[in-house]
Amino acid sequence: MSGSVVVAADSATRLDIEKILGPGVWTLLRIDRWVAKYEVESEEVARSLVAELRSNGHSAVAGPPDSGRAVAWNNWNRPTPVGTTAEVCFPWVASDAETVVEIDPGLGFGAGDHPSTRLLLEELAARIKGGESVLDVGCGSGVLAVASVCFGAGNAFGLDVNEAGLLAAQANARRNGVADRVQFSSIQLSDVKDKYDVVVANIHDEILRRLAGDLIACIAPGGWLGLSGVSPGQVSRLRSAFSNIDFEDVREMQEWNALIGQVNIE
Ligand SMILES: C[S@@+](CC[C@H](N)C(=O)[O-])C[C@H]1O[C@@H](n2cnc3c(N)ncnc32)[C@H](O)[C@@H]1O
Repeated sequence: MSGSVVVAADSATRLDIEKILGPGVWTLLRIDRWVAKYEVESEEVARSLVAELRSNGHSAVAGPPDSGRAVAWNNWNRPTPVGTTAEVCFPWVASDAETVVEIDPGLGFGAGDHPSTRLLLEELAARIKGGESVLDVGCGSGVLAVASVCFGAGNAFGLDVNEAGLLAAQANARRNGVADRVQFSSIQLSDVKDKYDVVVANIHDEILRRLAGDLIACIAPGGWLGLSGVSPGQVSRLRSAFSNIDFEDVREMQEWNALIGQVNIE
């Protein structure tokens, strides 16, 4: 039995990682993103080293233990394309995209590959023109908030009830160099008093319906709302809960739907 540990670092954290794993053979994936693979004696050892690295704030994952499981591992580690020029990927994954958004979800939801997330990522990539303010409700790993700013938004604010996930979200903002423009918090949506050019929420439909009034109240004049995380059978009930939003045609990916709309000002 053998195992492996795949670890991502920048030039500042490489030495810290080598204090745990020993000297490594590092490959430069992109600007200041290094990756190394360490062979270890067993899958159990690999898992325990990954836990130690993660508890020290490093991005690490157990590698495929054998060639049989390498195919599944490689599929899971594939970058997620967004629009024509961007990709979202784990920090240890190579990408040739013009814009690479690195996400390590940690204890937060969202590596960027889930269809409900992808539906909103596509809208953000297509609609952000530059300088917008973005509110991401149910931000999980921060993928939508961080990607928004990587796509050109001026700033983003992410909210979630899962505080452990918010630590991962903050780390994701840092690793993408946008921490000065992205903030995360566990405050209630009803306590948000600012208005945003873009409000996105990828949450269970029942919660979206419950938050409808507060979500609408956060949309700045001329801004747009993106709701995702719903199945085709939930769309009409969701539309009814947002009766003063003019929604466009439903966006679909696999069995997931998203609604994009603006406040009806008539
Ligand atoms: C499906 S995940 C979406 C994560 C991420 N935005 C994405 O698209 O990958 C939904 C998130 O909403 C959060 N959530 C659930 N109810 C919430 C509420 N009332 N207020 C804020 N966040 C909430 C959950 O903790 C979870 O992180």
